[in-house]
Amino acid sequence: MRKWILTWILPTLLYIPYLYTIFLLGTLSSACNDMTTEQTAANVNCSSLERHTRSYEFMKGSDVRIRKLFCRTQWYLWIDKHGNVKGTQDPNNSYSILEIRTVTVGGIVAIKGVKSEYFLAMNKSGKLYGKKFCNEDCNFRELIQENKYNTYASAKWTHNGGEMFVALNNKGLPIKGKKSKKENRSSHFLPLQAS
Ligand SMILES: *[C@@H]1O[C@H](CO)[C@@H](O)[C@H](O)[C@H]1NC(C)=O
Ligand SMILES: *[C@@H]1O[C@H](CO)[C@@H](O)[C@H](O)[C@H]1NC(C)=O
Ligand SMILES: *[C@@H]1O[C@H](CO)[C@@H](O)[C@H](O)[C@H]1NC(C)=O
Ligand SMILES: *[C@@H]1O[C@H](CO)[C@@H](O)[C@H](O)[C@H]1NC(C)=O
Repeated sequence: MRKWILTWILPTLLYIPYLYTIFLLGTLSSACNDMTTEQTAANVNCSSLERHTRSYEFMKGSDVRIRKLFCRTQWYLWIDKHGNVKGTQDPNNSYSILEIRTVTVGGIVAIKGVKSEYFLAMNKSGKLYGKKFCNEDCNFRELIQENKYNTYASAKWTHNGGEMFVALNNKGLPIKGKKSKKENRSSHFLPLQAS
């Protein structure tokens, strides 16, 4: 009798955490499936969402940096309250304070103006603009170059197979991604601590 119970109860007990895991995974994936297309487009990556759920610290902000992006051409990138992307030489311009958030592993980030609440975005033509609701236009590949400057290339769009970079020319105006080059000073940014 006792042996019978063991052979029945034990596997059942072992089974419960297994079922529970299945249930949890189901909840997570249906949470993803329930998202509207707008939310899905908003680079909420379901697989990374699941990963993040396991690591509370990660969610709490170890992947979020508050920075100013200072271009090697001596301009701070800023996004004004209408969503226009420009350069400023005023170190006190609070619109140049940006939130750089890791979206997926592999150095893909989203960059948001803290005050304007616009995301930095690049469209297919390589035009930089501000976007209220983030989509793939807002995903940039952040790379540390040998000279310690970072480059930010559109993670979505390329031009003739070449990457298109966030860049500010010598006058502080955005350069079309199609004309930007990884080697050019205009594509090099120092992420500075925002005080
Ligand atoms: C979502 O994340 C997975 C795994 O990291 C990756 O393979 C996939 O390309 C990502 N999708 C988007 C839209 O970023
Ligand atoms: C920026 O702010 C600091 C401290 O408030 C001030 O000393 C400095 O003159 C300001 N610079 C400009 C360019 O406005
Ligand atoms: C990119 O933006 C520019 C300026 O707003 C616009 O003229 C161009 O048509 C856009 N390109 C695409 C592919 O959306
Ligand atoms: C940008 O880089 C390209 C390729 O290295 C070079 O030919 C061009 O002169 C550079 N432009 C500027 C403005 O530095």
